[in-house]
Amino acid sequence: MLNRIIGTGSGLPARVLSNDELATRVDTSDEWITTRTGIRQRHIAAPGETASDLALRASRHALEMAGIDPQDLDLIIVATSTPDMVFPSTACILQHKLGAKGGAAFDVQAVCSGFVYALGIADAMMRGGTIRHALVVGAEVFSRILDWSDRGTCVLFGDGAGAAVLARDASRGILSAHLHADGSHRGILCVPGQIDSGAVTGTPYVHMEGNAVFKFAVRVLAEVAEEALAANHLPKSAIDWLIPHQANTRIIEATAKKLDMPMSRVVLTVAQHGNTSAASIPLALDQAVRDGRIQAGQHVMMVGVGGGFTWGSVLIKW
Ligand code: UT7
Repeated sequence: MLNRIIGTGSGLPARVLSNDELATRVDTSDEWITTRTGIRQRHIAAPGETASDLALRASRHALEMAGIDPQDLDLIIVATSTPDMVFPSTACILQHKLGAKGGAAFDVQAVCSGFVYALGIADAMMRGGTIRHALVVGAEVFSRILDWSDRGTCVLFGDGAGAAVLARDASRGILSAHLHADGSHRGILCVPGQIDSGAVTGTPYVHMEGNAVFKFAVRVLAEVAEEALAANHLPKSAIDWLIPHQANTRIIEATAKKLDMPMSRVVLTVAQHGNTSAASIPLALDQAVRDGRIQAGQHVMMVGVGGGFTWGSVLIKW
């Protein structure tokens, strides 16, 4: 038995922040942001709107497509680096908002690789046989951890959530998950703050060494896709759709080139959403499912990379 995605959904905040509007706040321009990153706009959560609120919206859409009642979920995993609270997990809060109880619920912290990690974990847990339906969500409100005076980071990120519902299937579904981490690179992308005795110590904002992150991402994204292909005895040409983490069009183009893939077979949402961290892959997946690009029987390769550093792939026979 395999585990198949039978429903996808998106939850984006209503507020759209364009590059031009950002340029009125920090010393940047639409031209710089578009040329260096491909980003044209991003969605920003309203005051008080949390990761679980966006996750709820995405999950309802995914459950509706799947035709599954929330109470039938045996497992909920939320990938997030911007949880509602220190604890309980955003997954437990989401479970309650969905009106479900009893199944397992927990969060995964792998930053921008979070959705790929969560999907791999859900797949492994479902192979145990006791879980029939799982909900896997990537949900982020990165706008809360950005220093809005730092043009090097604030132009890159956005808020949103994407969700997927998994069910057992005899013939198609997740073929493999390959997950990796190397904590020696933890300092090049981090939020080095913590709560200590009632106060925040350290810096509660995203710190990023852009060039180092860029080079690392380009190397590992293609590598981990090739690892998945080798494990499944498939050639590069077998990938029908590449759904990479949406951080920067140039990183994605470099990855596609290494995989000998034309950009017409790559799902790109970075222009509309910016980098939504753990939400970026499920948001892109939902778009390509709903507009009919992804068809039954096709091979869909998801590749993610993020702080930690973490990276990984999930290969699906759709
Ligand atoms: O999920 C993973 C997370 N992040 C990523 O994947 C991001 C990976 N890194 C990148 O995408 C790129 O490194 C950036 C888009 C962040 C930066 O692009 P770059 O081509 O590496 O630019 P740079 O950092 O080398 O900066 C070039 C210039 C600098 O000016 P000087 O020193 O040449 O005068 C920066 O100060 O661009 C300047 N700059 C900006 N200018 C206008 C940096 N940010 C901005 C900005 N607007 N927002």
